[in-house]
Amino acid sequence: MIRCKKPLFLLLLLPTLIKCSVAGDLISVRVQDSFNLSAYFGSYTLCEAVKLCHDMGQGILSRDALSAIRAGSEFRDAVGNGHNWWIGLVDALNERNTSRDGWMWIEDGTYTNATEGDPIFFSKEPDNRKGSNGEDCAAIDSSYIYAFDDICVSKYNALCYTSDGDTVPPALISGSIFVSFTKALILTYSQLHPGCSIDVSLPNMTLLACLGKCLAIPHSDCVGLYWNSARRQCILLPYFDAAVQLDYGTNEEKLLWEKFLKK
Ligand SMILES: *[C@@H]1O[C@H](CO)[C@@H](O)[C@H](O)[C@H]1NC(C)=O
Ligand SMILES: *[C@@H]1O[C@H](CO)[C@@H](O)[C@H](O)[C@H]1NC(C)=O
Ligand SMILES: *[C@@H]1O[C@H](CO)[C@@H](O)[C@H](O)[C@H]1NC(C)=O
Ligand SMILES: *[C@@H]1O[C@H](CO)[C@@H](O)[C@H](O)[C@H]1NC(C)=O
Repeated sequence: MIRCKKPLFLLLLLPTLIKCSVAGDLISVRVQDSFNLSAYFGSYTLCEAVKLCHDMGQGILSRDALSAIRAGSEFRDAVGNGHNWWIGLVDALNERNTSRDGWMWIEDGTYTNATEGDPIFFSKEPDNRKGSNGEDCAAIDSSYIYAFDDICVSKYNALCYTSDGDTVPPALISGSIFVSFTKALILTYSQLHPGCSIDVSLPNMTLLACLGKCLAIPHSDCVGLYWNSARRQCILLPYFDAAVQLDYGTNEEKLLWEKFLKK
């Protein structure tokens, strides 16, 4: 599928500057002599984009890589204007609205800070426009390199990177083999699933089996899980911490929900 439409007059005037990319295309571009970007044209959800990057031994776009893209024109020159790219920035834990704080970078777990100088979002973003589903994931527009929020299941291109500063690609930094889980506070029970969480419940499942399912996700990508011993329900959190909808019949059942995060 052709994914870029250029006005005809531009095609006639600037034939060498027009890049029309096709789904499945990969454009590799080095920016600011320190980041190697892999720009995958295609229709990916945010979760699929993160998985693609990690399977390729790369990270999904980080704060530093985004700053490097902004500092020069290499990225825009390489991929062309008018495309949308997922970046590794989510607010699926509890913010879920128009606040610019509380957005977490997937690759290093740091939070954005609205008071910082370099704005990440377009001036009217994030707007959480698709209200009830929540716009918990962020993408950039390649014409302006500013971000907007969207529901995580929208389909955009994937933007992955490696950095010369990293001794190993971000995706391959696996935790210690002695993984421990710590109990975490459940912030809300009613948030709809943002996109990446997976319910892997089985009849007669045990907590140990649920923890094992988390450890079995490739690249150490499962950050934690929700578990309910009465319901035998096990909901994994691949890629990032998130609030999800936790069902219960009675108050006792509600109190049995536990959350564990990998340390
Ligand atoms: C965002 O939602 C949280 C939790 O519902 C609320 O405390 C906060 O005030 C909201 N912020 C904005 C800017 O709406
Ligand atoms: C945000 O940045 C300001 C200025 O650097 C700092 O004072 C503040 O503590 C930061 N807030 C958070 C939540 O990191
Ligand atoms: C980036 O690409 C260059 C040239 O293709 C390669 O020599 C270098 O090792 C790459 N760096 C990283 C961090 O992948
Ligand atoms: C679950 O446990 C019950 C009682 O111990 C047993 O009857 C049932 O067959 C088990 N189901 C599965 C799927 O193992």
